[in-house]
Amino acid sequence: MLQKIVETADYIKGKVAKIPSYAIILGTGLGELANSITDKKEVPYNEIPNFPVSTVEGHSGKLIFGKLGGIDVIAMQGRFHYYEGYNMKEVTFPVRVFQALGIKYLFVSNAAGGMNSSFDVGDIMLIEDHINMFPEHPLHGKNYKELGTRFPDMSNAYDKELRLLAMQVAKENDIKLQHGVYVGTQGPTFETPAEYNYFRIIGGDAVGMSTVPEVIVANHAKMNVLAFSIITDLGVIGKIVEVTHEEVQEAAKIAQPKMAYIIQEVIKRLNK
Ligand code: HPA
Repeated sequence: MLQKIVETADYIKGKVAKIPSYAIILGTGLGELANSITDKKEVPYNEIPNFPVSTVEGHSGKLIFGKLGGIDVIAMQGRFHYYEGYNMKEVTFPVRVFQALGIKYLFVSNAAGGMNSSFDVGDIMLIEDHINMFPEHPLHGKNYKELGTRFPDMSNAYDKELRLLAMQVAKENDIKLQHGVYVGTQGPTFETPAEYNYFRIIGGDAVGMSTVPEVIVANHAKMNVLAFSIITDLGVIGKIVEVTHEEVQEAAKIAQPKMAYIIQEVIKRLNK
């Protein structure tokens, strides 16, 4: 595993002049942030050694190097989902490569169903914490000391300082920001009403099929994480309607410029 990570990181180092400190994972329907990146260089996943290839509709699958608000970033357009059949080491492999590249900050986005009754479709939720409901853990198995400690702390998985910065940016720009706990599930089914209710009862505000594995590995790697859910449908009793992947993508599209702006501003302030 270590050798593969180094091999892939070396390949990427050979592709770009400067390795950024910031990486961004773009979720379902949230690829448009990539349009704000200038001086772009794109590398399709299928050209990157050891990278899995993304298959799901709406995930185009490439690494994008360039400048966001004038600052060097790497963005992943398309991520690897557990439900596609990848194991957790594959799902989180790009985060390991980011670690090997020396990335210090990871920004993550996703589309999610909202269980909090004060949420609306199109809201942006700042993720404060998560509940891991995946059946496989990304750190299961041998621990490589070079990558991180055996028993990583998760008390600040979504970095408090980054969250405060994001809240500041949202407030200054009149962007409505919800807050809450993200429940990560394997999918690919959306939840039954009873499951949404259960996730609400155990402390969840939104539920989705990603993010938790990458955030766990990023924390193992001692990166600072900031993550957002775009609420694309509601799992609130009385408001549950049929959900389709297309509707999720559509709802995500509408909210994404605001989320992109917050991420860009946070990076600018960190870089001062
Ligand atoms: N459940 C799980 N994943 C999702 C949802 C949902 O309601 N909406 C978008 N991704």
